[in-house]
Amino acid sequence: MENNTMIGTDRQPRPATKAAARPSATIWNYLYREPQLYEEVFHGPDRSYLDCCRQMLGLGRAPARILDIGCGTGRDLAMLAADGHQCTGIDLQPAMIDYASATYPGPTFVAADMRTFDLGTTFDLIISFGFPLSNLHSHSDIVGALKRLAAHCAPGARLLLETVNGYAWDTLRRHFTIDTAGVQATGHADYDLDRSSQLLTRRRHWTFADGSEEDDYVRLRQFFPAELTALLTDAGFTVTGVYDNVTLRPSDLTGPELIAAATFAR
Ligand SMILES: C[S@@+](CC[C@H](N)C(=O)[O-])C[C@H]1O[C@@H](n2cnc3c(N)ncnc32)[C@H](O)[C@@H]1O
Repeated sequence: MENNTMIGTDRQPRPATKAAARPSATIWNYLYREPQLYEEVFHGPDRSYLDCCRQMLGLGRAPARILDIGCGTGRDLAMLAADGHQCTGIDLQPAMIDYASATYPGPTFVAADMRTFDLGTTFDLIISFGFPLSNLHSHSDIVGALKRLAAHCAPGARLLLETVNGYAWDTLRRHFTIDTAGVQATGHADYDLDRSSQLLTRRRHWTFADGSEEDDYVRLRQFFPAELTALLTDAGFTVTGVYDNVTLRPSDLTGPELIAAATFAR
């Protein structure tokens, strides 16, 4: 199994405002150091993901069993749990799982790797937002993870899986702002695509209000619509649509993300 994620820092980490360890030797991102900071900076209290899941489930199908792959801080699952669903989230980073468990008491959170996890049960809806699958770089890791997802599907289960869109990586965000009580910073990202491996490297430079600086980086696997459809079909899913937006509106797929909607056919 290959290292799944190359999220690193070129310099010594800036002292965090709260104790938080480097999550693993192969995952590092300035914003992962403090899950709360990640949550504040990224997509705010965005209910469009909740609406997307509701649309996928059909409005009358609560309570459903929902599994979130790469759940991060657990906020999406907390909204779904408040909707009456039975929610479970897995994430590779124990710090994310600790934060999610402490912050959102409803769902069950488990530290696990999507390539190998086995929860011993099945779900009606599996979601994976924020590109967790793009953190897997090799074909065998991607195929292995999709098999694990399929193994956790009840008959007729639905899937919403978000990856980076290979057609539109250059529309990914380049400017970042952190403006919280504890941290103020601006970040600038540069991207470099290796077309043969479909791996996109983002190098990001942070400048903090106190004048200090830090670099981090991430390498993300790009996916194309027909490729994603083929991978999901091989894993036993029937893809019902591929979108570049969380409202699942048909489009020309020029947005930075690809969201595959599928049902489990076997
Ligand atoms: C950009 S975050 C998205 C978090 C959350 N889904 C959201 O939308 O805010 C990607 C998450 O995928 C997780 N991840 C990366 N590789 C993983 C793996 N192999 N297994 C499980 N989670 C993984 C990371 O730890 C991280 O929390």
